Amino acid sequence: MVDFTLTDEQKALREMAHDFAEKEIRSVAWELDVDGTWPQDIINKAWEIGLMNSHIPEEYGGVGASYLDGCLIEEELAWGCSGVQTTVGANGLAAAPVLLAGSEETKKKYLGMLTERPALASFCLTEPSAGSDVSGMRTRAVKKGDKYVLNGSKCFITNGGYADWYTVYAKTDPDAGHRGISAFVVPKDDTVIVDKKEDKMGQRASNTATITFNDTEIPAENLLGEENKGFKVAMMTLDRTRPGVAAMATGIARAAFEMAVDYSKERVQFGVPIAMHQAIQFMIADMSTKIHLSRLATWNSAVLLDQGRRNTIESSHAKRFAADTAMEVTTDAVQVFGGYGFIKEYKVEKFMRDAKIMQLYEGTAQIQRLVIARETLLPRRVEEPAAV
Ligand code: CAA
Repeated sequence: MVDFTLTDEQKALREMAHDFAEKEIRSVAWELDVDGTWPQDIINKAWEIGLMNSHIPEEYGGVGASYLDGCLIEEELAWGCSGVQTTVGANGLAAAPVLLAGSEETKKKYLGMLTERPALASFCLTEPSAGSDVSGMRTRAVKKGDKYVLNGSKCFITNGGYADWYTVYAKTDPDAGHRGISAFVVPKDDTVIVDKKEDKMGQRASNTATITFNDTEIPAENLLGEENKGFKVAMMTLDRTRPGVAAMATGIARAAFEMAVDYSKERVQFGVPIAMHQAIQFMIADMSTKIHLSRLATWNSAVLLDQGRRNTIESSHAKRFAADTAMEVTTDAVQVFGGYGFIKEYKVEKFMRDAKIMQLYEGTAQIQRLVIARETLLPRRVEEPAAV
């Protein structure tokens, strides 16, 4: 049966997330955007009412929500401000590899830290010279006795400056390409240096930093899964988190769309509200269709995960379509505002700036197309294991 009707619980969850977005996020979003102010108060409140760490199972202190439930939260909070949602949602990205491949002790210890207090964790994959090409990474982890010693730099790390621990990918066999990468949990200590906070075009309320590991020692038990199997952990993680990015993109597009609709009913040109002009109506119609399809693709990619099925292509469909939609819809929303759309006071331009990152992080728009093309032309036949 195909049915996208939400249960009463899901409707209540969405309403709660929407109220939170309206009262706690929207009310300060444009203020936070000016100087890139860190939203600690919002993090504390979101954690308190269970809007953070939604995918962490109850046995580790989390809510144990489904992926679809997570998408409902992510769309609403991103409707409030996607910079804030990126901040409160990034624990999900750092925690996914631990859930996929961590030992029971690692899960208890590190996931427990996130659920005991409003702590943050970061996902460290990207490097200055290894963005889309993950296997080009240079960070090294060398085994010495019962420890690994980590050296290297990771860039564009969400919440990097505030994290208590990091999921880090490093080469354990530098000559083996993607088959020489391992994943680790790395607690913050004095050898972990936060080098740089980026000054960004959009999502300015989120923290993006460069993190350098200088002879950082990690206990061998912090290895996630098997040595040299980290690349697959990263890919399986992104399959699980791209639906959330698609949900965020849908939230940004919806926020800009609602503003454009309201404005089109108020703004009078040629003697009538501009909403009476077919040129504007067709833009509104196209925006509405794209948002609707983004949400359907997002929910579909999340529901497959909830059913325990591989969602690689669906996750890339959703991420690529919703991200492109966010960029197109926010650009058109500015267009509906005409010259006023270009003026900060009218607020809609923030959504256009925030939307851009949707086509960049967690795999660019081009990487999503590459994944879709490969899954279409050379589909991987092997069903992936539930964990590695
Ligand atoms: N699940 C499980 N296994 C997978 C997989 C998946 N989804 N995708 C690929 N694999 C496996 C393949 O089957 C293959 O296995 P074998 O070793 O058994 O042959 C192996 O992984 C290598 O696959 P590819 O040959 O396809 O690898 P590639 O080097 O060509 O790279 C890629 C593929 C899709 C380009 C990948 O590198 C990629 O996704 N790049 C984008 C990285 C990305 O999204 N970065 C974002 C960082 S996170 C972030 O932005 C968040 C933030 O905080 C800002």
